[in-house]
This record gives sequence, structure tokens and C-alpha cells, in this order.
Amino acid sequence: MSRLSILYNARYIATLNIMTIHTEEQLDKLKSAGLLVSAVLRRMCHAAEPGMTTAELDALGAKWLAEADAESAPRLTYGFPGATCISVNEEIAHGIPGSRRLSAGDMVNIDVSARVGGYFADTGASFTLPPDVPVKKRVRTATLAALDAAVHEVRPGARLSRIGHAIECVARRSSLRIVRNLCSHGVGSALHEEPTDITGYFEPHDARVMHEGMVFTIEPFLSTKARYAEDAGDGWTLIGPTGSVTAQYEHTVVVGRHGPIVLTDLRGLP
Ligand code: CO
Ligand code: CO
Repeated sequence: MSRLSILYNARYIATLNIMTIHTEEQLDKLKSAGLLVSAVLRRMCHAAEPGMTTAELDALGAKWLAEADAESAPRLTYGFPGATCISVNEEIAHGIPGSRRLSAGDMVNIDVSARVGGYFADTGASFTLPPDVPVKKRVRTATLAALDAAVHEVRPGARLSRIGHAIECVARRSSLRIVRNLCSHGVGSALHEEPTDITGYFEPHDARVMHEGMVFTIEPFLSTKARYAEDAGDGWTLIGPTGSVTAQYEHTVVVGRHGPIVLTDLRGLP
């Protein structure tokens, strides 16, 4: 994910460019990157268990990335102090792996992004360590439905704002809030690139259009309470209000001639 404020940070502006897929070879390499981050995410989700620290879980992810000659994208790009982002309960995103121990009933979000063979892919998912409770399941189910609805809007010529529109429709129907300062973003030749700031809500002034070959993430964040993700004070972690339940699911998608080409795979998650 990218924070809406990223545009205003001059440090990042110089690195912004855009990835457009022109060849089958490029697409194949991006597909490989997408499948690799998906596999690492899936294995981490299944490996998580009560009593384990988030650092221990991250170490598994780091090992599986290294075995595939993949580099952690947040570490490579921003010097993030972990290979993956692991956010627990009221933490919404960018959680630093550390000494926090997972407990039964925790809702966990893992976000895995990496550079593989020169190409970046980005994925994420939320799950509950049993026992689950209805509100957590409801937020996760709605967030996944929002992701699916948004993916269906991808086609050449459509406005990028269709993505936020689709997410907003599902959020309204589900009586959930959209975390407004976390956005989907271009990806491919860098972790965050153009088109940046693809809002999770409908932005009528965003006239940008999807072009064939464009690569970006779609990553809705839906929440019971959080309208904005706030800095937790450690320089990375973003949190919601106490007791809030927030989920995120993330795909990396290419705008194909006839519709979306989804590069990541969220099947088989706990
Ligand atoms: Co991500
Ligand atoms: Co992302």
C-alpha cells in the first residue's frame, strides 16, 4: 500500500515512474513475481500460530524470499526493518515484525512485496488465528468482496476512480468504513510508482484512465471504526482506534486488452 501523503514527500517524487507492459516476456516476469509473493504470503499465513512472535514469522518469510532469490521490497525501497509487514489487531498496516507474540483470536495482516528478477509485485491478506468472531469474519469477507468488485472494473479506457467506486459500494452495503489515507498504487519497476494515490473511495475529480499494460495494486482497507490510519509513533506502524477491526487484501493487476490480468493469488489462505 502507499500512503496518500507519499506524493508530498519530495524524497519519493524523484523515483516515480510508470511501468507499462509491452511484451510477453515482461508479463511472464511479472507473473513470476506475483506468484512468488503470493506463495510466501500463503505459507506465512499458515505458519502463524499463537505464541510465535511476529519477528519469528517474518524470519520465515525472509527465508522463503531468499530461497527464491527475491528481495524484500519495503526493505530495499525504504529501509523497512523487516522483510514483510505484519500488523496485528488495531494495527492497520506497516507493522514492524518484532517481539509481539501472536495470541489466539488475533486478526493478523501480512503484506508481502518483493523484487524478483527485476520486477516488483505486492500482495497482502488478513486472517484470524482461531477462534474467529463474527465481526472479524464480516470485515474480512467484505474487504475481499470489495477487492473482487474493484478487480472487475479493470479494463482499458476505464477511469481509475472506478476502483474506489467499487470499493465504496461494498463498504456502504456492509456498513463499514474505508481507511481513506491508504491507497492502491502503481507497481512493477518499483514498489510504488505511477499511477499513485488510487483512492479506496470514489474520487470524482480523478480523471486518470487505465491503459493497456498498466500495472497497479488494488488493496482496499475496510474497518469497523478507522477512517484514517494514524502513526503509532515508531516511524512505520499505522494504527486505528482501540478496538477497531480492519482488514486488507491486495492483488497486483495488469490492465489486459480485455480486462484484468491478476498476477497474485489469494486462494488457499486460512
Ligand atoms: Co502490499
Ligand atoms: Co501495495
